[in-house]
Amino acid sequence: QIGVRCLGGQAASPLQESAVEEEMEWDNLGFSLVQTDYMYVMKCGEEESEFEAGQLSRFGNIELSPAAGVLNYGQGVFEGTKAYRSENGGLFLFRPQDNAIRMQIGADRMCMQSPSVHQFIHAVKQTALANRRWIPPPGKGSLYIRPLLIGSGPVLGVAPAAEYTFLVYASPVGNYFKEGTAAINLYVEDEFHRAGRGGAGGVKSVTNYAPVMKAMRRAKDKGFSDVLYLDANNKRDIEEVSASNVFMLKDNVISTPPMNGTILEGITRKSIMDIAQDLGYQVEERAIPIEELLEADEVFCTGTAVVVAPVGSITYKGNRVEYKMSAELGCLKLQSRLVGIQRGEIEDSRGWLVQI
Ligand code: COI
Repeated sequence: QIGVRCLGGQAASPLQESAVEEEMEWDNLGFSLVQTDYMYVMKCGEEESEFEAGQLSRFGNIELSPAAGVLNYGQGVFEGTKAYRSENGGLFLFRPQDNAIRMQIGADRMCMQSPSVHQFIHAVKQTALANRRWIPPPGKGSLYIRPLLIGSGPVLGVAPAAEYTFLVYASPVGNYFKEGTAAINLYVEDEFHRAGRGGAGGVKSVTNYAPVMKAMRRAKDKGFSDVLYLDANNKRDIEEVSASNVFMLKDNVISTPPMNGTILEGITRKSIMDIAQDLGYQVEERAIPIEELLEADEVFCTGTAVVVAPVGSITYKGNRVEYKMSAELGCLKLQSRLVGIQRGEIEDSRGWLVQI
């Protein structure tokens, strides 16, 4: 664990809470699991059309059949959303309804029952409030909230599970990359692909992440921050980074790959597209050949975990292209507008924030 310590690695009892707060080192938060106090759990059986009422319980291990659908056949989808603390002490979620809808779409793709939008948002709010002392002070990070939907029922043949479990847990986080707020260095992968047409790359399925680990490990071993994947058909157009969407800026135009079933429809991605238009950029969703990306003025990644990360270099087929860095980068303006809205410092004219 980086930065924050939790007494004995265990969830603290209420009596220990002030002691735990004194232990916090909010300045060094990274993106690794810090065990918080509570999680939210609800279930839906085969015969039921809706999830039963859920409840909070102490954060801890869950019991699963070894034959659970998620363990054997990867029947699971998840979300990532964040709770922020504003300067005046307010607590906010950012666009949780969009996460709820995205989970429903993903669940449908994976043949799973899913919670209603109301149930999802209620569970996220309850989890954030129950763990509110873990929401970092303004400017020090956020509480990353992970809603997870799994096929928990046992199954032997390849088929949907007979029971689903929806869980929400949380962890305080800071910067996703070890580079902190500095620019990241991407490696373009041309052997492994993240997703193919008709697959599940467009939804937040648990099955999208283990397959990128080998490429990530190879790239990290060579000192890169992360991997940029190309389309599986032609190895020509950029798709996304392991856990974030990718954008380029050239002159006054901001471009990002279109949604074609292989790219995750990021909530930060679409927020940045709106903010870019507010700031006077022209925004395009279109196929972007890797060669064109290498000629961009700026490249940046977006995601709930990543927020907006400037890219300092891209290495493709052994050639490293470096991008100019300055405090005037367009992506830093987008980042500061987004983060300002999320922290309640800039007017939220689109109603993205939900106060809890
Ligand atoms: C998120 O940005 O919420 C993600 O899902 C990234 C995560 C896989 C680390």
